[in-house]
Amino acid sequence: MRRARVAVLVSGGGTNLQALIDAAARGEMPHAELALVVSNVKDAYALTRAEKAGLPTVTLSKRALGGQEAFEAALTEALEAAAIDLIVLAGFMTILSGAFTARYDHRILNIHPSLIPSFCGEGFYGLRVHEAALRKGVKVTGATVHFVNEIPDGGEIILQKAVNIRENDTPETLQKRVMRLAEWKLLPRAVEKISTELVMRNEE
Ligand code: GRF
Repeated sequence: MRRARVAVLVSGGGTNLQALIDAAARGEMPHAELALVVSNVKDAYALTRAEKAGLPTVTLSKRALGGQEAFEAALTEALEAAAIDLIVLAGFMTILSGAFTARYDHRILNIHPSLIPSFCGEGFYGLRVHEAALRKGVKVTGATVHFVNEIPDGGEIILQKAVNIRENDTPETLQKRVMRLAEWKLLPRAVEKISTELVMRNEE
């Protein structure tokens, strides 16, 4: 294996997917190949970003498939068909079962918009994370890339980046700054780091 084949799982706007596409185009992820984008939402703008970049896409609806188990079976089939080595959750709004995360142990990454262990776990997603940080009055927040296990936001931390909170921040201004200064930089770096490790392990 010269490059790890990476699948990006999305549900929404896909700015983190875009950060990966742009980093790859700049040659910043030489050990990773973006090989598949999977969405669980059929009109997610992330799919348009993937198509523009010429990446293969798959859309899987949990409801149409009849539930979690069938959804994960279809997901596994799509990942295996594309010979995926590494899975990146980039704004993927579905919790994966322990059976699924165990199958891909240390091969699923997630990006979370806070410094874990603050403001994470069940119910902490999207703007809620930034609302909680502002409510608490912390002066520093940031983003975390971590491995995914059966505990929401509970897997081993890979990279973190801090972002200062400003006095006049709203959840929206803070969310944008955390994305620009932390998430979009951190995610390509983490993908390259883990891809390099997978390639090296494969060569041993
Ligand atoms: C990001 O804030 C990410 O940290 C969180 O979901 C959001 C996804 O945004 N997990 P986008 O779809 O990448 O623009």
